[in-house]
Amino acid sequence: MSPPPEPSGTTLYVHVPFCVVKCGYCDFNSYEVEDRSVLDAFVDGLARELALTALPQAPPSVFIGGGTPTFLEPRQLARLLEVLAEHVDLRACPEVTMEANPESATEEKTRIARAAGVRRFSLGAQSFAAERLRFLDRAHSAERIGEAVAELRAGGCENLNLDLMFGIPGQTLAEWERDLETALELRPDHLSCYNLTFEAGTRLERERRAGRVAPNDEDLDRAMFLHTRERLAAAGFTAYEVSNFAGRGGPCRHNDHYWLQGDYVGVGPGASSHRAGVRSTNLKPLEQWLDSLARGLPPVAEAETLAPRQRAGEAMWLGLRRTDGVDLDAIEARLRAPVREWYARPLDELRAQELLVREAARVRLTSAGLLFANEVGARFLGA
Ligand SMILES: C[S@@+](CC[C@H](N)C(=O)[O-])C[C@H]1O[C@@H](n2cnc3c(N)ncnc32)[C@H](O)[C@@H]1O
Ligand code: SF4
Repeated sequence: MSPPPEPSGTTLYVHVPFCVVKCGYCDFNSYEVEDRSVLDAFVDGLARELALTALPQAPPSVFIGGGTPTFLEPRQLARLLEVLAEHVDLRACPEVTMEANPESATEEKTRIARAAGVRRFSLGAQSFAAERLRFLDRAHSAERIGEAVAELRAGGCENLNLDLMFGIPGQTLAEWERDLETALELRPDHLSCYNLTFEAGTRLERERRAGRVAPNDEDLDRAMFLHTRERLAAAGFTAYEVSNFAGRGGPCRHNDHYWLQGDYVGVGPGASSHRAGVRSTNLKPLEQWLDSLARGLPPVAEAETLAPRQRAGEAMWLGLRRTDGVDLDAIEARLRAPVREWYARPLDELRAQELLVREAARVRLTSAGLLFANEVGARFLGA
């Protein structure tokens, strides 16, 4: 197996913070809006922010995410892409992705995005069971997912990811097995299968605390995870990260760059950037973000220089999620830090617990470690 690649270049992320409904499990910076004229103001704001920002030249990837980029009307989406193209050569960029939601993805929007250089689409399907979609507050039916896929394909989408979730309260293993089959029938080029997490500050987490919702049994979640890996391997997908499976479309370069701890610049409300060890986060509320830009100021809420130890912990935490694992020599050289020495204890303990394997400088999760990826990663963040 070849060593994991080192991150190269700086990617660009554009955050569109609007959704038709705020889902109860979601802690991303996204909100419902009643007055759609704010969407025009948002695109004006983006134009200002892009002009103010030191953007990467020739980014290896551009990702337009959210929120819900397809919440924009066709003319607003076209304008956003025009504004972006004034700063970045989207057609020359190796990977340009846009997120889409089933209720608002259309053939027309796909054509607009395609013509501007978007070549990869990521559709949030989540589940094909009506009861689960209701539980999650999704704004679309199961049938609409298939229709949206057909619209995306008709609009020229050649590289399609579907996002799915398992571990939803009430979901059975048989139901998840059916969800995966239905997803495969839609012939996606990539699949992301996330284990539902109860995030602080969400409706779901409040309901859990109030005792109205209980997470699924952990053994059931693990059975779903193991089934996912087996079934998708049989279908020809490569598991290159804990939750991500590459089919014909190959891995998502944008996310892979993030797990490799590559630099990125984010624009839009609440977007974060990381460059040369400095992490900054934009103002989250639309009004504050717009207000700062109207005054000609970068809309940054906070910035911190990461300590070498924090960067090393994050390199381990993120990198171990990748199937290739991490190369300690490469991380030590890149961060100029004694990573082996700092993490001697968790490395030894996790190896003794058979959650990690070490082959020379390479460290990766074992099949047992994959089931506890979050717990393993946490050992490096706190160490
Ligand atoms: C933030 S959403 C943006 C994409 C789009 N708006 C959508 O809803 O599909 C990106 C993906 O993150 C995943 N996600 C968000 N919150 C999650 C949670 N609490 N647990 C697991 N996955 C989550 C969902 O699968 C979702 O498709
Ligand atoms: S999961 Fe997607 S649609 Fe739902 S609130 Fe989050 S960003 Fe919006």
